[in-house]
Amino acid sequence: TDIFTIAIDGPAAAGKGTISKAIAARFGFAHLDTGLLYRAVGARVLAGVDPVEAAQTLQAHDLERGDLRSAEVAQAASKVAVIGEVRAALVDFQRAFARRAGGAVLDGRDIGTVICPNAEVKLYVTASAEVRAKRRFLELTGKGEVTSLAVVLADVAARDERDMNRAEAPLKPAADAVVIDTSELSIEQALQLALTEVSALK
Ligand code: C5P
Repeated sequence: TDIFTIAIDGPAAAGKGTISKAIAARFGFAHLDTGLLYRAVGARVLAGVDPVEAAQTLQAHDLERGDLRSAEVAQAASKVAVIGEVRAALVDFQRAFARRAGGAVLDGRDIGTVICPNAEVKLYVTASAEVRAKRRFLELTGKGEVTSLAVVLADVAARDERDMNRAEAPLKPAADAVVIDTSELSIEQALQLALTEVSALK
């Protein structure tokens, strides 16, 4: 059985979700959005559960809650993500997913650096904070959330700051990651670059 792992990291709203889904579909790989794990823990914490307890007892159904994509849950996720014991509780699940037969794409913040340091392909997808905030703003308002570009930019900046400066598994490109800056690229162009990188190694 062929184990092939693709690690896609980067800050919020840089395009890694779109790229990960497309790569997974193209190559027939399974896809895990690891941000969803932290969001599910964050949502449980907002509901009153202790963060470490929430991570250690996370269940599949916690990943199916409807509110995981909200800005409030995103902030809660990045707050629980600084806690070492929360991160530790989620490692085994992610590594097992990465090694499943038939190939896997994992996207997050620390996949290429901590979770899957031996991934066959590592991409770091980024874009300027302004471009990312604009994309997230359109996404949130498209879903009916009432917000402003300034609020979304402040949210994105706060999460970047927390994710990049935490002691455990900070967000940064792995030394051997290919960096794709999508600031000036359309989705199609970014996707094309990513597919070219994967095809070169697959
Ligand atoms: O990717 P997404 O925006 O859904 O991630 C939500 C939060 O979860 C991030 O801001 C980050 O703090 C945390 N996260 C993490 N490590 C990952 C994935 C997400 O710390 N691998």
